[in-house]
Amino acid sequence: MKYNPKVPSIKDMALLARKRIPRFALEYLEGGIGEELGLRRNRDDLNNIILCPRYLENVEAVDTTCELFGRSYDLGVGVSPVGLGDMMWPRAEQVLSSTAQEMNIPYILSTMSTTPLEDIARMAPDVSWFQLYVPKDPDIMQDLINRVKNAGYKILVITVDIPVGAKRDRELKNGLNLPFNLTPALLIQIAMRPRWVFETLINGVPRFVNLDAYVNSADIRHLGEFLTSFFMCGVTRERIRMIRSLWQGPLVIKGLLHADDIEAAIELGADGVIVSNHAGRQLDAAPSSVQALLKLPEQLRQKTTIMMDSGIRTGLDVVRARALGAQACFSGRSFMYSIAGVGKDGARQAIEILRDEIIRTLQQLGCNQYQAMDSTWLAD
Ligand SMILES: Cc1cc2nc3c(=O)[nH]c(=O)nc-3n(C[C@H](O)[C@H](O)[C@H](O)COP(=O)(O)O)c2cc1C
Repeated sequence: MKYNPKVPSIKDMALLARKRIPRFALEYLEGGIGEELGLRRNRDDLNNIILCPRYLENVEAVDTTCELFGRSYDLGVGVSPVGLGDMMWPRAEQVLSSTAQEMNIPYILSTMSTTPLEDIARMAPDVSWFQLYVPKDPDIMQDLINRVKNAGYKILVITVDIPVGAKRDRELKNGLNLPFNLTPALLIQIAMRPRWVFETLINGVPRFVNLDAYVNSADIRHLGEFLTSFFMCGVTRERIRMIRSLWQGPLVIKGLLHADDIEAAIELGADGVIVSNHAGRQLDAAPSSVQALLKLPEQLRQKTTIMMDSGIRTGLDVVRARALGAQACFSGRSFMYSIAGVGKDGARQAIEILRDEIIRTLQQLGCNQYQAMDSTWLAD
């Protein structure tokens, strides 16, 4: 066992993380939109996917590798882009990306990262993908894409599911502003998490460093309002065509839930999609990724690389996603919990936990290859 048996699951890492992250940052990480129905649906629907085991096979050796865009990764699970990563735990983005490189799993860096995109490309040259929120200004967009190219990223992920900044009540109540608005309430929350304060003082107060060249980050106030003013309110087909002409490598569209939109993405030249409801953070009535995957016609799966995220917490979930037709899946919160809860070795432990759970699940199901897992294992 390559992980601490006293912290045997992502759920246990989350329990530890909740004791170490200040409340305003924890609620930003864990919160959903509205009544948080979509947030709960993500987990409930994954839990309701029942897989039927087959026996009478030797499953001593299991191959967990996963091919994506001509490259082989060790596992079919990667790290989702999470904006303001270092606010949850200082240096989270550096530790996560370099551990992803070491353990050969995909790592997607957010446009809204707190570490420069160029630094992450140096730390994780083989496994880093870049997630683009599309700026309204086409010149800024082009400049950003050029930087991504020059830094050496091979895969570009366009997120399309934020046509408007979210109204998340927990964030509003906490007054999540950048730079931090040090109200007495915020100071009390911070004072209760001395380790976070200490590390933040060493690392520096998080800010949207990738945007330094385009906006004065001191001017960024409420996150949702900033997103709406700087980025496109709805990424149009025309804009995706423009990005396609600027980006020669694999292009992925993240945040699609409807089969017609996936068809359109293929027509626009995308090489893959990430089915996602943005972790239940944008539209409370949106289907879970599981519901969306179950509705996709079989022929669509043959035409493009379908991936998913939102709610993945265990190796069993990774196998469930594969059985639902996702070639790979991603998680945002799982990996943030790992670093915040356990420290710098947490990322490695989280990946080992997921690897162990994936292997045991496949063995229990009578499947000795992750890539051979498919819908024939679904119980109904
Ligand atoms: C705190 C937080 C910040 C996020 N920031 C981004 C982002 O900057 N770009 C993006 O495409 N998605 C972002 N997402 C969505 C994630 O990429 C991903 O879809 C989601 O976290 C997956 O669900 P999970 O956290 O339940 O695993 C964010 C999610 C969270 C929780």
